[in-house]
Amino acid sequence: METQQIKIAPSILSADFRRLEEEVKAVQDAGADMIHCDVMDGTFVPNITFGPFVVEAVKKSVSIPLDVHLMIVNPEKYVASFRDAGADIITVHAEACKDLGTVLTLVRESGAKVGITINPDKPVDLFIDHIDQIDQVMIMSVFAGFSGQKFINGSLTKVKQVYEEVRRLNKTCDIEIDGGINGETAQWAAQSGVNVFVAGNFVFKSDNYAKQITAIRESAQIGQTNLKNLQQ
Ligand code: DX5
Ligand code: ZN
Repeated sequence: METQQIKIAPSILSADFRRLEEEVKAVQDAGADMIHCDVMDGTFVPNITFGPFVVEAVKKSVSIPLDVHLMIVNPEKYVASFRDAGADIITVHAEACKDLGTVLTLVRESGAKVGITINPDKPVDLFIDHIDQIDQVMIMSVFAGFSGQKFINGSLTKVKQVYEEVRRLNKTCDIEIDGGINGETAQWAAQSGVNVFVAGNFVFKSDNYAKQITAIRESAQIGQTNLKNLQQ
């Protein structure tokens, strides 16, 4: 299997919302490959963030793709609104879907790329049989709901399970990780098979976005090289 391109997706959850346009433009200029938008409904997770209006505002501010992470119940109700707002990838939580196959089909038919994720206490079995319908698997390395939490090492076991399955099927699929990513954890994740890195605090709570994004990328490159060497 070819090595997948490393992509960094800063999460606006940690951005300064008074200056949201400036913030997303700044990370784009600093080398970000996507903007990660964390949508929370106060029911699936305790926190509430924003909906399609904010996604639409971000869309108007940048040209890189929007990676929209729906932490909401009944995600099927809102797929069309987020797609209309400009979501390029729509990720749903498998544990939030009553009929996962139908929700994934809905996302596909909306024209967005299909993303799936699960919380740290949920197994990959919740979605692995649907892998053929999925463009990007995201493994949560913190519990969905808040930025700035500590990376959960155990999540790497699930990354490896997904990576092995993707290889077995000889399928093209991005593997993303979300939560606690920095210049150190990115390497561990990449070494397990991750190629897309969400980062909130590590990027936005610094005064040099380019430096942080580069640190994640370089760390991920080391991890990818190690992974390749292990496979030989
Ligand atoms: C958590 C969100 C994450 C969060 C990551 O529910 O899904 O995207 O913003 O933030 P950090 O990188 O600070 O852990
Ligand atoms: Zn997220």
